[in-house]
Amino acid sequence: MKFDVTDMKLAPKGKKRIEWADADMPVLQLVREKFAKEKSLKGIRMSCCLHVTAETANLMRTLKAGGADVYLCASNPLSTQDDVAASLSKDFGIPTFARRGESVDTFYNHLNAVIDKKPNLTMDDGADLVNLLHNKRTREAGNIIASMEETTTGVIRLRAMEREGRLKFPVIAVNDAATKHLFDNRYGTGQSTLDGVIRATDMLMAGRRVVVAGFGMCGRGVASRARGMGAHVIVTEISPLRALEAVMEGYEVMTMDEAAKTGDLFITVTGNKHILNGSHFAKMRDGAVVCNSGHFDVEIDIPALKKLSKKVNRQVRNNVDEYVMRNGRRIYLLADGRLVNLAAAEGHPASVMDMSFATQALASSYAVERNGRLTVGVHNVPQAIEDWVSELKLKAMGVTIDKLSTDQKKYLASSDEGT
Ligand code: ADE
Repeated sequence: MKFDVTDMKLAPKGKKRIEWADADMPVLQLVREKFAKEKSLKGIRMSCCLHVTAETANLMRTLKAGGADVYLCASNPLSTQDDVAASLSKDFGIPTFARRGESVDTFYNHLNAVIDKKPNLTMDDGADLVNLLHNKRTREAGNIIASMEETTTGVIRLRAMEREGRLKFPVIAVNDAATKHLFDNRYGTGQSTLDGVIRATDMLMAGRRVVVAGFGMCGRGVASRARGMGAHVIVTEISPLRALEAVMEGYEVMTMDEAAKTGDLFITVTGNKHILNGSHFAKMRDGAVVCNSGHFDVEIDIPALKKLSKKVNRQVRNNVDEYVMRNGRRIYLLADGRLVNLAAAEGHPASVMDMSFATQALASSYAVERNGRLTVGVHNVPQAIEDWVSELKLKAMGVTIDKLSTDQKKYLASSDEGT
C-alpha cells in the first residue's frame, strides 16, 4: 500500500487549506528553513501517528525538508481531514494512511502500514505507535532511535511504562514542554472545543450552565472560554488542589452527581474513563448535551447511555446523536464521544499549533543529534528549544520585551543585597 486516503480529487482543496494554515505558523516556517539548510533529519525514516489536519501537514513538510522520509497515519478515526490526507500524498510526497470515519480495523491497518516502513523515529499523539511497537511489532522496536509524544494521555502511559521497566527506547515528552501544554492545551483546546460544540449544535453559550470535567490545562482553557462567552461554568475535579484553584478562579465546583442535575452542556477533559456514567445520565435534564475533548472516547460511558435509552436517532444534525432515554428525556451526544474539537471542528488553530509543532520538529532533530546517547526513558524537551520557540513566537507576534541590565543580573546572582 503506497498510501490510503478517501479521495484524491480532494487534494487541491487540501493544498489550499495547508497553505492557509502555514501562513499562521511562522515559527514552524523558520524551523523548516533551518532544516532545509542543515538537513538535520537526513537518512531518517519517520513514521507519525497524529491528527491528520492542515497544521500537521505543515509539520510533515518540515520533517521532510530536514531530509527525512516521512509517513503519516491518523491518531483518531474521526479527526482526519480527507482533503489534507489527499494533498499530502499527492502534492507533498508524504504517503498518508488515513480516512475520516475509518473502522477500528482500518485504523490499526494504517498504524501497521507506517510501521512496515521500518522507522527510526516515531511521533505519536496518544502513544498508539509506541504501544504497537512494544506489543505486536516488537521486531521493529529495535530500529527506533526515539519517539516523540504530543499529548498528556500519551505521556501518562509512557511514564507508566517507564516505571514498570517496560519501555524499550527513549521518548521525548513534547506535551510537557511549556511551549506546548501552556498554550496548545489551554488556548487551543479552549477555543476549538467550544468551536466544535457550536458548529455541531449552533447553541448560544451565554446563560448556559456548562459543566467542565477536569481542571488541567485543557479544562482551564475550556472553562475560561465558556465563561468569556457568558456561560455559567461549573467545574468538577478529583484533585483538591485543582478544585481549590477552580474555586478561587470563581467557578462553581461540585461533584458530578450534583452537576449532572443542573448542567445544560457537559464537556469532559480529564484523560480518564467513565467521567459521565449511567447514574449521571439518569439525573440529566431533557435536552442535555454531552461531549468529550479528552484524547480517548472512554470519558463518556456510551454503552451505559445506550442501555438507558429506548431509541437512538443518529445524526439529527452532523455530529449529533439523540438518545431518547426510557424516562422520556433526550440526551444529545456529540461526535460519538470522540474529540469534539477535531471531529466537529478543525482542531486547534494553526497559530497555537505553530508552537507545539515547532517544538516537535526541534525535539526530533535533537533526538537524532543525540542518537545513542539518550537513555531509555521519558525525556523532557531541552530548555534551549523552549527558549528558541518562545522567543521566535514573540518576535513573529511583534512583541519585544525588556532585558536584564548588568546591575540587575548581579543583583539576582548575589545573596548579600537585601533590606
Ligand atoms: N490536536 C489538536 N488540534 C490539532 C490540530 N489542529 N492539528 C493536529 N493536532 C491537533
